[in-house]
Amino acid sequence: MASRKLLLLPGDGIGPESMAEVKKLIAAMNADLNAGFETEEALVGGSAYDAHGQSISEADVATAMAADAVLFGAVGGPKWDSVPYEVRPEAGLLRLRKDMELFANLRPAICYPALAASSSLKPEVVEGLDILILRELTGGVYFGEPKEIIDLGNGQKRGVDTQVYETYEIERIAAAAFELARTRGNKVCSMEKRNVMKSGVLWNEVVTATHKNGYQDVELTHMLADAGGMQLVRWPKQFDVIVTDNLFGDMLSDVAAMLTGSLGMLPSASLGAPDAATGKRKALYEPVHGSAPDIAGQGIANPIAMIASFAMCLRYSFNMVAEADRLEAAISAVLDDGLRTRDIMSNGMTEVGTTQMGDAIVAKFRAA
Ligand code: NAI
Ligand code: MG
Repeated sequence: MASRKLLLLPGDGIGPESMAEVKKLIAAMNADLNAGFETEEALVGGSAYDAHGQSISEADVATAMAADAVLFGAVGGPKWDSVPYEVRPEAGLLRLRKDMELFANLRPAICYPALAASSSLKPEVVEGLDILILRELTGGVYFGEPKEIIDLGNGQKRGVDTQVYETYEIERIAAAAFELARTRGNKVCSMEKRNVMKSGVLWNEVVTATHKNGYQDVELTHMLADAGGMQLVRWPKQFDVIVTDNLFGDMLSDVAAMLTGSLGMLPSASLGAPDAATGKRKALYEPVHGSAPDIAGQGIANPIAMIASFAMCLRYSFNMVAEADRLEAAISAVLDDGLRTRDIMSNGMTEVGTTQMGDAIVAKFRAA
């Protein structure tokens, strides 16, 4: 039986409360399915700073580098607002992203049928939606040089940001897109603005070449990113995987996320390059939300974003596609039963706390 090494980093605020529900699922999968998960747990963020003055320890960074996957809760809170910049809670997460070279950010937009009515779009447009935005995370205009504000000396200044992409950066994100598509609907739509940007011309060329070179079983289409934004709101179900650069991905993933509702529901993943020997990618899975200090410790946080992040971990790090489908179906079934945490509560539904929501999902998963 495979051993599957997970590092759990619950963090601060509602991070530990949400992670507790994932631990129940891990235990259930080890017991029922002989899944072989081996977990280690460590401090990150403010809780790590309180314990040893760093937002993550060197030993724990090493454990993360050696793990098959990292599950991350959330970090931060007003308690640590005045700690020095280098050791602030977010520094732990940034350090992991950098050391693990997590260049591919996965943001799914899933609309559970029971919540379709609360979307800002018509229910039939979003019901059953399941798409994945793949955003390049370590290149592009957020990092390109020069990046500066120049004083022109005549009362004017010039702000400069530079969009830069090199072939290898586009190749690796395109390859990740095609591989992810194979575990889903087998379609990729690449978005750039080749009509006005040289980096967009190169993006289009390299994605097309990567597709020819080993991924022709996956359907590839191209769209200009502005038209893509329009299509995302008009008929999002036409897409499966959308791959795009850092800037367009930042915006398009937030748009796509809000098609489907609450922050408490949204998972994410960040992947690194495949290991040359094993082909396995370094990976970190985390909810999109933060540490929610306003509700921490009250037992009312929605654990679904964290649980859905674990479902992504099953799908993308362990190729446990059937189990990932089953877990997502369990989340959907519990919502169909009318269970709601406070953030997604509506008339006629049953309000439950964090542990009740987690327990109900575990029970559905085990029974399926
Ligand atoms: P937040 O996401 O923590 O909270 C925003 C609002 O959504 C709050 O009203 C909160 O109660 C609610 N909310 C969030 N997740 C929820 C859940 N699972 N269930 C029910 N309600 C939920 O963002 P905010 O308030 O801007 O930041 C709080 C702290 O979290 C800050 O210190 C921020 O720096 C940090 N943060 C950390 C992130 C991370 O660890 N990756 C990401 C975003 C923020
Ligand atoms: Mg954003």
